[in-house]
Amino acid sequence: MAFNKRSKIKLLLESSKIGKNTTIMGWVRTKRGNKNVSFIAVNDGSTIQNYQVVADPNVISEEVLKRITTGACIKATGEVVASQGAGQDSELIAQKIEVLGEADADKYPLQPKKHSMEFLRENAHLRMRTNTFGAVFRVRHALAFAVHQYFNDKGFFYIHTPIITASDAEGAGETFRVSTLDMKNPPLTEDGAVDYTKDFFERETNLTVSGQLEGELAAMALAEIYTFGPTFRAENSNTTRHLAEFWMIEPEMAFYDAEDNQDLAEDFLKYIISYAMEHCKADLEFLDKRAAEENAKKPTNERTELGLLDRLRFVVDHDFERISYTEAIEILKNSKPNKKKKFSYIIDEWGADLQSEHERFLVEKHFKKPVILTDYPKDIKAFYMKQNDDGKTVAAMDILFPGIGEIVGGSQREENMEKLTTRMDEMGISQEELYWYLDTRRFGATPHSGFGLGFERMVQFVTGMGNIRDVIAFPRTPGNAEF
Ligand code: 4AD
Ligand code: MG
Repeated sequence: MAFNKRSKIKLLLESSKIGKNTTIMGWVRTKRGNKNVSFIAVNDGSTIQNYQVVADPNVISEEVLKRITTGACIKATGEVVASQGAGQDSELIAQKIEVLGEADADKYPLQPKKHSMEFLRENAHLRMRTNTFGAVFRVRHALAFAVHQYFNDKGFFYIHTPIITASDAEGAGETFRVSTLDMKNPPLTEDGAVDYTKDFFERETNLTVSGQLEGELAAMALAEIYTFGPTFRAENSNTTRHLAEFWMIEPEMAFYDAEDNQDLAEDFLKYIISYAMEHCKADLEFLDKRAAEENAKKPTNERTELGLLDRLRFVVDHDFERISYTEAIEILKNSKPNKKKKFSYIIDEWGADLQSEHERFLVEKHFKKPVILTDYPKDIKAFYMKQNDDGKTVAAMDILFPGIGEIVGGSQREENMEKLTTRMDEMGISQEELYWYLDTRRFGATPHSGFGLGFERMVQFVTGMGNIRDVIAFPRTPGNAEF
């Protein structure tokens, strides 16, 4: 007989089953009551709301009730009745309760009290059973689904680009090596270097930092594509915005110039945020309250003016500010924190790379809305970006979000073979190794553009979580690959 005959709590709360018999299964959050009755709050993950099971000791034996503790998994069958207490419309009067899995109360780490984020990170294998993480991962799911919905509706094709590659798409040298060689005793070439021709792929390989280069190949055939996959960066950044393993969405479009690219990115970001607002109401209301509590604990100058839900609504309802890097530098140069030397990195000349403190100043203090920064100096951007006529800048765009900083990086691509190869030579990127990439410029080149959205940064923005480690189930950061 099939086991999975249950009502999901989400559906039970939405439909009126009053007077009917049903079964729920889930994990016990709390049990309270007295010798005449027990109230058991059960959560099955389908919603942030718990469902109350009422157990009469004349019906449910003392022996079973004893085993129902926080963290245990139970199956409860009984009649759905209108609830006496406040907070929910209905509850289950148990006729039978089966303990599917006990949880030793002395050993179960998650007690019905507030745990610190650090503690929960150390217990990441269990933290999805808390309200906060349940909400975060349901929102994360909705955002991922919205990504596919958006592009599918627009006729984009989902391409799976390789995880193991022999190239470094961003040319930043932050790759993780993939090798099956014996590290203690690797085969050597005549001049003593490691001989990667003896390695599994008969060459040096690494985990991908971006699917863009392969995405461009697909766009030169299918016209409008996107990727959505894991990417890996061995950058030693211990910040609340960096992961060594993160998920990226990279659309790539033939026949799009830089402005088309900006329009698509803005529309796309607004769409997925709206989708989450529409489909994750209960979770976002919970996270909104949580963010307000966190905000109140911060020093006054670090507090955000808008609450989480207001912030989401604001981003969806307003045009993003679009300015060039050159204009941004002027604003930053003349800004108070720059003049008063409050920035850790003082902006004194054109060409400086922007740090997150500068990005956040532009977004949070100056414009107070998302900003699309365009036309960066070519020397601080990747080799593939389209060179502008000024000879100094490229058709890059970064999108900066409040509380996050850079959430999207993208550009129009250089389709001119000569300009592209000249730039590759200048930057020491091998034409020979990327012959396949250059073939798209050799055969049927066209203006094209694309961008990459850091998925976790978007989940952070929508959930209001302060640390990127708390929006991915099992974060990978320097010194941390547990679970
Ligand atoms: O700006 P990035 O490096 O751009 C690219 O990789 C391009 N190939 C994208 C493209 O044009 N197709 O990365 C894109 C985004 C960043 O804006 C940021 O949101 C996110 O990826 N990102 C990270 N997220 C978490 N941890 C890290 N270490 C990240 N590095 C980049
Ligand atoms: Mg970038």
